[in-house]
Parts: sequence; structure tokens; C-alpha cells
Amino acid sequence: MGVSAREMKHGAVIDEFDVAAPSYDRLVGANPGYHRHLRMSARRLGLPRDGAGLRVLDLGCGTGASTAALARVLPAAEIVGVDASAGMLAAARAKRWPPNVRFVHSRAEDLTSEHTGGRVDAVFAAYLLRNCPDPDQVLRGIRGLAKPGARVALHEYSVDGPAARAVWSAVCWGVVIPAGRVFTGRTELYRYLWRSVLQFDPPAGLRARLEAAGYDTVRAVPLPGWQRGITHTFLARAGGGA
Ligand SMILES: C[S@@+](CC[C@H](N)C(=O)[O-])C[C@H]1O[C@@H](n2cnc3c(N)ncnc32)[C@H](O)[C@@H]1O
Repeated sequence: MGVSAREMKHGAVIDEFDVAAPSYDRLVGANPGYHRHLRMSARRLGLPRDGAGLRVLDLGCGTGASTAALARVLPAAEIVGVDASAGMLAAARAKRWPPNVRFVHSRAEDLTSEHTGGRVDAVFAAYLLRNCPDPDQVLRGIRGLAKPGARVALHEYSVDGPAARAVWSAVCWGVVIPAGRVFTGRTELYRYLWRSVLQFDPPAGLRARLEAAGYDTVRAVPLPGWQRGITHTFLARAGGGA
């Protein structure tokens, strides 16, 4: 059966992302709506105009799919992509980026405002939090990196109810895990993905987690397509006094 999220240590998860990095873009490119949904979540940050004068953090940027969404929606913002996987980050850095985009190799847990060049105006984290051993620590850390009142968007798998759980399992075992095997010759990361999403917070749980970590105006907004009820944008403001 699947590798339990609890059994797979965080270092092993990062190692699996290193292995998956060369084929990651092909795999997510085959997922209908993946890039469009990232742009939707980036727009849902609700930042003014083109982001001029704003510093935006893309935590868990991977190969840069979420960074590209931010750069499209906020072409004038300073964007800092951060990832713990050297392989994923190398794939991101190998792409062409405008001069206002840069990348930092760090775990979210170790990131400081020296890495980011000062406190940030907004934080975007797509498919990151579920992978972190202590999500509450990461949420507290984000508040420490963000200006008081900064906008936060977590783009996350957060499955809402039995029907959505059944769709998620069908998509994983019917498509994602077989495709992972074809693209990488391995299934560990994709079985971990299946299991860890089922074990992660449902929307009400993640909203409560954000509120308990000191975030204000928290809401979950669904994404369309087969991902409805499975993937959401969690929007919040980093409360002051972090
Ligand atoms: C599923 S990928 C998502 C990548 C990208 N945000 C996207 O939307 O395509 C998750 C990324 O989070 C990174 N990651 C996992 N745990 C992390 C941590 N504790 N600190 C920083 N990055 C982490 C992984 O290396 C991986 O690149």
C-alpha cells in the first residue's frame, strides 16, 4: 500500500523531489488546470496593479511553476522563490527569468529576512505546507518574515468530504501514480502525495490552523475543474505583532 506521510521523513521527501525534478514540469503540465489555477491563486492575493514596489515570497517554489504564475500576475514585483530541494531549484534557475525574480536555497523553517532582503508584502506557498513536518512552525515563521497585514495565499490540496476524497484516490491511482512511474521509474513520491493529502487538514482544519497561528480574515476559496473540493486557495492576512 501507500507510503505513509508519517513514515516518510522530511529529508526523504526532499530527496524524492530532487529525483523528480527533471520530469516535474512534464508531469504537472499533464494536469489540466495546474498552471491556470496557480495564476488564479496569485490573482486572489489581490495585490495592487502590477505589484510595483512590492516584495513577494514564493515559498516552496519548486521548479518555478508558482514563481511563473506570480511573475505573470505581478510583473513588476520583486519575487523571491525559496525551496529546500537543490534539484527543484536548479530546474527553476535554468529557466529564463526577468531581473526582478531570484531564488534562494533554504528550508522554509530556516528562512530569515536576510535571505529575502527584508520583510515581505505577500507570501505565496503552493503545495508546500502539507510537506512540512511542523506546519504550525512554518506558519509562525511566515508571520515573522511578513510585514504586519501582509497578504498570504496558500494554494493547497485540502480535501473536503467523502466524495472529494474518492475522486482524489481515483485520480492518484488511475493517473498520477502510473504517470509518476512512467516519467521517473519510481512511485514513492506519488504514493506519498496520495496518502499525505488524505492525512492533511480539510478546509475547516486549515482555516482553524491559520487562525490559531495568528492570521486574520482567513477564508478558503475553491478552485474549479476536477480539483473542486480538493484544491483551495487559503487567503489570509499576517496579523501584526509576530
Ligand atoms: C509539490 S512542489 C510545488 C512546487 C511549486 N510551488 C509548484 O506550484 O509547482 C513542493 C515543493 O516544496 C518544497 N519543499 C518541501 N518542504 C519544504 C520545506 N520545508 N522548505 C522549503 N521547501 C520545501 C519541495 O522541495 C518542492 O519543491
